[in-house]
Amino acid sequence: MDLDLKIHHIGYLVKNIDKAIEKFKQLGFKCVSETTCDEIRYIHICFMEKDGYVIELVSPYDSNSVVSKLMKQYKNSPYHICYLTDKFEETCIALQTGGGYVMVNNPLPAPALEGKRVVFLISHISGMIELLEK
Ligand code: NI
Repeated sequence: MDLDLKIHHIGYLVKNIDKAIEKFKQLGFKCVSETTCDEIRYIHICFMEKDGYVIELVSPYDSNSVVSKLMKQYKNSPYHICYLTDKFEETCIALQTGGGYVMVNNPLPAPALEGKRVVFLISHISGMIELLEK
């Protein structure tokens, strides 16, 4: 299986996005996006970058957010790596049929990423990943 994936960002759960942005600035990160409100997932999102590493700060603002459950489990911590692919459908299928991944949700547009489709998949061996359409 040659998936030809490129790492796009590391998803990082935070309770308070404004305070988290300030903390990551102390470490040398710079904001590379505005803080966006994703009304599909009930989360605030901000992308930051340092030394070529991009993190996506994700903060749920409603208990109905799918991320709220993860927040209880992970607290403030990284929780997924997002991979960019120019073959979104094929890769999604290949990860399930040959890779042992299960889809967490159906592909949905991500407002914070120009409406490109994303899907989350989980493996009981390597955890959760996000796939982003190029
Ligand atoms: Ni992400």
